[in-house]
Amino acid sequence: MNKSTSYAGITLAHPIIAASAGTTRDAEQAVKCEDNGYSAVVLKSVQEEVLMRYNPFPRFAVLRSGIKGYESTTFYSYEQAYYGDIDDYAETVRRSKERVSIPVIASINCINPESWAHYAAVCEQAGADAIEIVPTCPTGLLIRDPAHDIHSITLAALQACKQKVKIPVIPKMSRQMANPLYTAICLDKAGADGLTMMNRSTGIEIDIETQKPILFGGLAGHGGSWALYSILRWVIVTYPQVKIPISATGGVMTGNDVIKCLLAGASTVQVATVLYLKGYAWVQKMLAEINAYMERKGIQRLADIIGVASKNMLSMEQYDRKTRYFAYCDHELCVACGQCENVCIYDAIQFVDKKPIIDREKCDGCGLCKSICRPGAIQLAVKEELAR
Ligand SMILES: Cc1cc2nc3c(=O)[nH]c(=O)nc-3n(C[C@H](O)[C@H](O)[C@H](O)COP(=O)(O)O)c2cc1C
Repeated sequence: MNKSTSYAGITLAHPIIAASAGTTRDAEQAVKCEDNGYSAVVLKSVQEEVLMRYNPFPRFAVLRSGIKGYESTTFYSYEQAYYGDIDDYAETVRRSKERVSIPVIASINCINPESWAHYAAVCEQAGADAIEIVPTCPTGLLIRDPAHDIHSITLAALQACKQKVKIPVIPKMSRQMANPLYTAICLDKAGADGLTMMNRSTGIEIDIETQKPILFGGLAGHGGSWALYSILRWVIVTYPQVKIPISATGGVMTGNDVIKCLLAGASTVQVATVLYLKGYAWVQKMLAEINAYMERKGIQRLADIIGVASKNMLSMEQYDRKTRYFAYCDHELCVACGQCENVCIYDAIQFVDKKPIIDREKCDGCGLCKSICRPGAIQLAVKEELAR
């Protein structure tokens, strides 16, 4: 089975890249990434803003919000940049290149317009295979101040780097840009070699007892598996509009998540949170899941699935608004949890003798009861074809 993919002109053994984070903070971690089976490593970002090189403590929390059965998990973190300046970083790039054979992507985050080109040139000289430019750090100066126009800053940074270096330059985007699709199209036209979509958002959690923001008291990065769906959204709408490859990042934790990103149009994915929560070796589980999918679907070349779901996506005008459905229950599978009755806003479900009885006339066919039925007892069938 061929899982290789090409990203920004670089051929990778498979699409799973270790994303920029503390887990890629130095050459030792780059080695860990290669040893555990990642196809490339994006080193921890070096930041020009000196304050951003020092971590506050404590700075990580796993947050669960919502109600039982419907919780979302957030990996809440405030991890600052690479510990040193650009010269230290050049050493880290050099040492990483000496010690690993997978591609090493440097990651830079500057605040002065003229610094982008300088930082990029230093990374190129140190041997980086590509550079990610990251004006989108969720707690960085550029996002922190809403007066900054991240769109224009990113474009200017790209142009400055492209004039200075020959290696691929890849902007890392943010959902906190005003119009990510427009920005992606502009970056493509301006010569970006790839797009990384998306950095984490900025969030905050408040302790209701102390009435203060948790941990060190301020804004932090806000990511987790919940982010996947918005990443898929941006990838699937961007893919048909740009020529360059996309790397999806945000909430990717399983092999099936990787497959979804590829189907949406990504050529690679970048993972960070799952390395913190499950360890570096987790990538092997993801790869095994991808193998199982390829085998089940008879896929020889993984790259063949890139963008397939994007091509299958319908426009609003094309949605089927005629076929109506009704829900029915397989009582053999039903465990009488009562959840379907709770969620039916059409009052179509009533429990009789601990069995859900679904009124076909009242049932709207909205699909919510089927969606929350864990044993899969509730299914949908076609009720009618409306003439409209
Ligand atoms: C603790 C932590 C530190 C991170 N540091 C950086 C960074 O220095 N530069 C960067 O571009 N992205 C950074 N990220 C973002 C990740 O590279 C990644 O794009 C993002 O977390 C989404 O992927 P995930 O859901 O797999 O974590 C960081 C993420 C985490 C969780």
